[in-house]
Amino acid sequence: MTELDICTKEDWLNRVIQEAKSIIAEFLKETFVRYRKLGKLILDSGYRKGQWKSEHKQRFLNELGIEHPSFNRMVTLGELSEEGFVHAVNKFPSLHAWANQKSLAKATFEYPLYNVWKTFQIDNDYGQDYPGRTPHQIIESLLYYYTDQNALVADPMAGGGTTIDVCQKINRKVRAFDINPARPDIEQNNVLEGIPHNPPYDFIFLDPPYYVQKDEYIRNEFNESIESFYKAMQKTLHNCHEVLKEKGILALMLKPMGLHENGHFEWEDLTLKCHALAEQIGFKLTKRICVPLNTQQYNALDVVRAKKGRYMLNTLRDVLVYQK
Ligand SMILES: C[S@@+](CC[C@H](N)C(=O)[O-])C[C@H]1O[C@@H](n2cnc3c(N)ncnc32)[C@H](O)[C@@H]1O
Repeated sequence: MTELDICTKEDWLNRVIQEAKSIIAEFLKETFVRYRKLGKLILDSGYRKGQWKSEHKQRFLNELGIEHPSFNRMVTLGELSEEGFVHAVNKFPSLHAWANQKSLAKATFEYPLYNVWKTFQIDNDYGQDYPGRTPHQIIESLLYYYTDQNALVADPMAGGGTTIDVCQKINRKVRAFDINPARPDIEQNNVLEGIPHNPPYDFIFLDPPYYVQKDEYIRNEFNESIESFYKAMQKTLHNCHEVLKEKGILALMLKPMGLHENGHFEWEDLTLKCHALAEQIGFKLTKRICVPLNTQQYNALDVVRAKKGRYMLNTLRDVLVYQK
């Protein structure tokens, strides 16, 4: 008696499909493994450290007969932690499906080599829609340069949670706080009363609300007056200093403001003044990175007013990187 006589035709087909699926799964896993191996080779040869010029990359692609997207997939797979890699292999039915998930497709930006970072844009895969949301590439590039895998990161003024999403992507541990948390993975905390810590942090990203953003955030010392803003910053910098490890890093994002008092335009350089406060507290400036604002943040009325009043609109914004 043949097997076909015993089983129904459908049983027979199901079994063939199952066997074919397991062969394909092995084959796909092998593709992931090989891509990762190539990615690691590329990374070990100094790709992220800027040792590859565009002509090197082009020659590599030409000689191997691969396309740019495949190259990017290799590098991204090469960068994943062991856990992240196992997750990618188990979760996605194919390399194509993995690469096509929106966040990964967009995550393949190059870490900046120079300290003016002007091309970064908001990406809806990172952080919630939130006033003053930070483009995730700024936080990701800072973490790339100043932390290692599994470093402990804090964001004491986390807003829409961009830092949390970046840390999850590149395998950093994170605690995020806000006086008015926008999502459940942000802990409620007033930075002026201290920053919960146990153990101390390797890295803090601090993106405070500026005095003139009065109406965007909950009212407190930061936005009552310019004087109270500086007092709040002094306390905050002190609290950050307390919860950082020795030689830990604070990245402080600030911009100067134009204040309109009684019809007069005044330049208020929050960046320079807060820098002086940070130095008094004992922080040592190790890098200044310019992350300019887009001119689109100004509307037509702002432009008309500036022209009429004969003053320039500000697009300067900096990240000051300090070591404890
Ligand atoms: C510029 S936003 C941060 C945006 C964030 N980087 C992002 O990508 O969404 C500043 C945040 O500070 C928070 N904040 C204001 N005063 C605070 C305080 N005293 N303690 C903690 N957070 C505060 C505001 O609620 C706001 O979410």
